[in-house]
Amino acid sequence: MKNAFVKNILCIGAGYVGGPTMAMIAYKCPRYKVTVVDINHERIAQWNSDRLPVYEPGLGEIIGAVRGRNLFFDTDIDRCIKEASIIFVAVNTPTKVFGAGAGMAADLQYWEKTARQIREAADSPKIVIEKCTIPVKTALAMERILTSQEGSVSFDVISNPEFLAEGTAMRDLEFPDRVLIGSRETDRGIRARREIVDIYANWVPRERIIESNIWSSELSKLVANAFLAQRISSINAVSALCEKTDADVQEVARAIGLDSRLGSKFLNASVGFGGSCFKKDILNLVYLCRSYGLSEVADYWESVVKINEYQKDRFVLAMLSAMFNTLAGKKIALFGFAFKADTGDTRETPALYVAKSIVEERAGLVITDPQALRNAMADLEGVDNITYEIDPYKAAAGCDAIALMTEWKLYTGLDYERIYASMTKPAFIFDGRNILDRTRLFEIGFNVFSIGKTPLVHV
Ligand SMILES: NC(=O)c1ccc[n+]([C@@H]2O[C@H](COP(=O)([O-])OP(=O)(O)OC[C@H]3O[C@@H](n4cnc5c(N)ncnc54)[C@H](O)[C@@H]3O)[C@@H](O)[C@H]2O)c1
Repeated sequence: MKNAFVKNILCIGAGYVGGPTMAMIAYKCPRYKVTVVDINHERIAQWNSDRLPVYEPGLGEIIGAVRGRNLFFDTDIDRCIKEASIIFVAVNTPTKVFGAGAGMAADLQYWEKTARQIREAADSPKIVIEKCTIPVKTALAMERILTSQEGSVSFDVISNPEFLAEGTAMRDLEFPDRVLIGSRETDRGIRARREIVDIYANWVPRERIIESNIWSSELSKLVANAFLAQRISSINAVSALCEKTDADVQEVARAIGLDSRLGSKFLNASVGFGGSCFKKDILNLVYLCRSYGLSEVADYWESVVKINEYQKDRFVLAMLSAMFNTLAGKKIALFGFAFKADTGDTRETPALYVAKSIVEERAGLVITDPQALRNAMADLEGVDNITYEIDPYKAAAGCDAIALMTEWKLYTGLDYERIYASMTKPAFIFDGRNILDRTRLFEIGFNVFSIGKTPLVHV
């Protein structure tokens, strides 16, 4: 069986990107052997178990079909580097929290360690692919590291940023809007990028595979995330104005979204965007602009993050003001903790900010979420006065208010009459995602607060 594989692909980093993307490549390319490695042995053990470390609709089925067939999770990074001819790098690139650029620049330590490890372990030519989101020109640094040892084998560095969205990762991977592959525009660079094109061409229509120079590819990923986040901040800024003027943000979004020049996606006002990428990628872009002396451009993009912080703040202040300017001694249920529906990921979730603010106001908190309770407990470790409950009915019982944080579909189908009956009165509901039927909730007896709409209040 060993010789039946035509390509040996490795991915370094078995996270939200590495695991699902490699599962899809293995699924669509049965003649390739795909291995995913990680320094985190526990994560690898979870990928090899029935309890995957990442929740994504459809992921479990694909892993079940390919694991042990042509997809393998391993911890012996050096051996796997030696065996592979194509190496994807999907390690984390968080915002730097120390030294120069702290709070803005990308922390490239994991990425650089990986480059060094590849250089040390490789004994044959490799194509190394940046899958992680990194500052433009990082490929240059990677090339320098890889080739900085005399007599080292040859490396080609390719940029292939990942555009999947958590919650829809498997669909995004199977039917991507586009796959972007950048390389140096030399004969060798183009030959290397064609090898990567050949992998995706197994299932992605050729016209959706875009080739570009390496710097455009790196920058496109940062800019795509900045544009997406900018749309959210724009509609959230409008939601603040709607609340002052009795306009309805959903009506405004619908009216502008039907303009074909604008389109209707990413126009849902909410408590703010979260996730591991938007904030860090914009700040990374801001840092890049500043380092090139483009302070006006940097300020423009930074305002997207500022509006997001403002929106989270506004949400907490609205709760406080609606509940008679005190939360002390009250009990509040958070419906949802993940940063969006259909994922258990809680990185940068607005719910964390809201939870901490509520506890600071000395209210008791009950958190419910179908997939994110494990991460919520880790995020809030050491914070008192919080309980965790998988059942939303039990979570709401005895509470003064519900704050809906995540747009899980299950929250739209609950029996709110039953919930209302179990709560302390007056009962409040703060819909941070505008997914609930507010008229119905008001009829039941709730005081209803939605983003960008006039509140419906009995008291
Ligand atoms: N999460 C997303 O939705 C998403 C989407 C597109 C792009 N990205 C980008 O992809 C990259 C990875 O993101 P993620 O969400 O998968 O991160 P993650 O934190 O879930 O996974 C990264 C993994 O890399 C491992 N790792 C770190 N250093 C290593 C090393 N030296 N050797 C081996 N393994 C190492 C970590 O242990 C971790 O398991 C980031 O640059 C991110 O910006 C993420």
